[in-house]
Amino acid sequence: MDFKKEIIKILSEIINCSEEKILLEIPPESVEADFACPCFRVAKILKKAPNLIAQDIKEKIDGLKIDFIDAIKVDGGYLNFILHKEIYAQEIILNLLNDREDFFKFDIGQGKNIVLDYSSPNIAKPFHVGHLRSTVIGNALYNIFSCLGYNCVSINHLGDWGTQFGKLIVSYKKWGNKKSVEENGINELMRLYVKFHEEAKENSELDDLAREWFVKMQNGDEEALYLWKWFNDLSLVEFKKIYERLGVKFDYYMGESFYNDKMQAVVDELKEKKLLVESEGAMIVDLEKYKMPPCLILRSDGGTLYPTRDIAAAIYRKKNFDFEKCIYVTAFDQKLHFEQWFKVIDLMGYDWAKNLVHVEFGLVSLDSGKLSTRSGHVILMEDLLNEAVEKTKKIIDEKNPDLENKNDVAEIVGIGAIIFNDLYNSRIKDVVFSWEKILNFEGETGPYVQYTYVRTCSLLKKAGDFDKKNLDYKVLTDEFSFKLVKLIGLFREKILDAAEKFEPYIISRHIMNIAQAFNKFYNNNLILDEAEEIKNARLNLCLCVNLALKFGLKILGIKVSDVM
Ligand code: ARG
Repeated sequence: MDFKKEIIKILSEIINCSEEKILLEIPPESVEADFACPCFRVAKILKKAPNLIAQDIKEKIDGLKIDFIDAIKVDGGYLNFILHKEIYAQEIILNLLNDREDFFKFDIGQGKNIVLDYSSPNIAKPFHVGHLRSTVIGNALYNIFSCLGYNCVSINHLGDWGTQFGKLIVSYKKWGNKKSVEENGINELMRLYVKFHEEAKENSELDDLAREWFVKMQNGDEEALYLWKWFNDLSLVEFKKIYERLGVKFDYYMGESFYNDKMQAVVDELKEKKLLVESEGAMIVDLEKYKMPPCLILRSDGGTLYPTRDIAAAIYRKKNFDFEKCIYVTAFDQKLHFEQWFKVIDLMGYDWAKNLVHVEFGLVSLDSGKLSTRSGHVILMEDLLNEAVEKTKKIIDEKNPDLENKNDVAEIVGIGAIIFNDLYNSRIKDVVFSWEKILNFEGETGPYVQYTYVRTCSLLKKAGDFDKKNLDYKVLTDEFSFKLVKLIGLFREKILDAAEKFEPYIISRHIMNIAQAFNKFYNNNLILDEAEEIKNARLNLCLCVNLALKFGLKILGIKVSDVM
């Protein structure tokens, strides 16, 4: 039974209005109640003061003698509902143990598609911490919307087209060679890219040459495309290693180059709809009316641009995936870019422009140079992941030197720590990267949640088999146990909230709450040494915590280990 739904149903019958008009909130912790209904909203319908309405409704519900409601209290214009603890505990635990993961799932999105565009690094350029954030936020949103029942489609919109490839080709031909690229892969490509920029400062002809090579690429020149493809393949090998370690998969790799043959149609359509105007030789869509700079569609040499490719991609995705929403996860510095071309789609007359969503996030700053990097300014992902794993291994060496599979556990915990840290605050906040904070097993960190999960695993292992059908739910009505029951019961709400706001941190905070509440429960209660009835009920609660933590971490894209 969904208590929230039930209460809403009762309220709507008493007030005689539709269920949508009823708001039922989860009150803050300071209020002793499980649900609260602000009566201000219905005051308009009933034309009466909210506190009088509240009093009135309370009396009516009291008269109904509903078994799962323990008490209703009027607090100003609020109606506070206190649930019957035993019934509540039974409902949550019974269902969770029965449905397992399905307990957390919905069918809201059944039959509908959501496209998610995330990670999307640039070929031959480093995969940096910004791309990491996009990857983990996008992956978490993919999991969250899947949990709602949507069919999610993830697309890696690789930056694999543009003048930077002209630059790379020029640089390779002048200062590179096959052997060195084969041996050093993406690092050599980066070196060549940096070299080009250094040299181009002195010699502007290089830029012209680079543009020529890009035009050749666009015109299908064999040598240009051969090199381009080679650079692509090399970069992808590196990117895929990172995705593998992060446990991230994409349904499609469709980079910017994929739209090369779909761009002319966009240009024609914009022309036909009289949206394209010439400006200093380039072709643009004027957005002055909307207080934005123009959206650039064609360069003066005929080359297409980043927005052109995004417009072509959106039209392609709408046609092929008929999305309910198309979500783009990038740093906030691309805000204007998305606002501009979303507007262009709107001006083209597509009403689905409103279903394009830019999910922006803040920057990652590092606590001063503690990260080793090979390239100077940019942090290489591989170094970052390796360092997290190394440091975790050291901690394990200290705390649990005899642990088997130390390397595997360190990989899970170290990488989990990075992901958790990235997802622990509202997206738009900057992330400060500090090893001490991220890997602190006692702080609000990934390792802390993982460790709590391990604790439940070893407890359950020690307990062996126990009765999961007949338990005394009264045992779970004390402060510490019931707090856990309630948090697990609220998990579904949190998933909905996270999806609505595109905010994975709502999940990470919630599982942190569960982990902290579990440790309080654990420190205040005996479990295995208790009398049979008590022991049994508490073990069942531990199993629920175990399932909730595991599922929560899974949604965030974090693997778990049973030992640590
Ligand atoms: N490649 C871009 C970058 O690294 C991100 C692409 C985001 N997706 C998109 N459809 N524009 O900044």
